Amino acid sequence: MSGEGGSLSAGWKRPALPCPALSLPRLKAFTCCCRVGDGRAPSTDTMAAAQVGSVLVTGSNRGIGLELVKRFLGKPNPPQWVFAACRDPEGPRAQELRSLAAKHPSLALVQLETTNEESIRAAARKVEGCLGGSGLNLLINNAGIMRPCTLDSATAQEMLEVYATNLVGPMLVTKAFLPLLRKAAQESHQKAMCCAKAAIVNMSTVLASIEKTPETYFFVPVISYRCSKAALNMLTKLQSMGYKEEGILCTALHPGWVKTELGSDQADLTVEESVNGIMKVLCSLSEKQHGVLVTWEGKTLPW
Ligand SMILES: NC(=O)c1ccc[n+]([C@@H]2O[C@H](COP(=O)([O-])OP(=O)(O)OC[C@H]3O[C@@H](n4cnc5c(N)ncnc54)[C@H](OP(=O)(O)O)[C@@H]3O)[C@@H](O)[C@H]2O)c1
Repeated sequence: MSGEGGSLSAGWKRPALPCPALSLPRLKAFTCCCRVGDGRAPSTDTMAAAQVGSVLVTGSNRGIGLELVKRFLGKPNPPQWVFAACRDPEGPRAQELRSLAAKHPSLALVQLETTNEESIRAAARKVEGCLGGSGLNLLINNAGIMRPCTLDSATAQEMLEVYATNLVGPMLVTKAFLPLLRKAAQESHQKAMCCAKAAIVNMSTVLASIEKTPETYFFVPVISYRCSKAALNMLTKLQSMGYKEEGILCTALHPGWVKTELGSDQADLTVEESVNGIMKVLCSLSEKQHGVLVTWEGKTLPW
């Protein structure tokens, strides 16, 4: 499968051209255009201040999700609970998570198929039980799929499958965990919105930016993926309106173009590089990024 492409990271290093329609000059032009927004490296002070008490990551058995779990566990001030949600915690693809859980008592593996409502409800019950009356500070809706798909090849079945995972899943997961996020927001001593208080982070992509589509289209069309993530961006904006009064931060995040099964080995960034940036961004998120699409470098992308 072609990886998610274009300059999905702002730091373009080499020409990787999964789509022959994209010329190198065009790709470079796109790369430069991606350097937008008001991104500034988060200060160490901000990072030190962010003490996330509990975090749940969906799709955490591989790729960006797995690396996020590792980083939270490895923090000098790790969360009290790291909930690693994945479809099959007992299966062969969750071996690394199980090894981590054997070493870290604060890591709980949670079965969560984001397209299955019963699985989502059971996951929320399990997390609530572990938290023992406390709230959940940070929900990262990371699970996602991409299918090779052009305007000509797109089918109803494929569109619906990709929407189910990339849009409906995060919507249902957020609804199920909302009572715990609300509780965290109410319990928190933090006045300002931040990940240490209560936050929903939806993993999106620059490919979902409608404004940037003229620059990205020829690199990799992936119609169903782009449409589903653009809808996820809208969901993020709606959540930011709906949950603002309750103090729950809602942000969409583009992780860069990352070497994972989804991103392909042609991608710009290693998982470690991307998640280095993401961890800093998570620590620095504030009201300024509420209802905003930001990159792994903390830059703002246009919807
Ligand atoms: N890699 C990139 O270049 C890139 C760029 C922009 C955005 N993103 C976004 O970043 C997120 C993570 O991507 P990645 O690159 O780490 O992908 P990845 O390596 O393919 O991992 C995807 C993860 O999502 C899980 N998943 C898929 N469908 C699921 C479902 N219905 N229920 C529960 N879990 C499900 C997978 O679980 P299984 O192992 O069970 O399949 C896997 O853990 C995605 O939302 C993606 O769209 C990635």
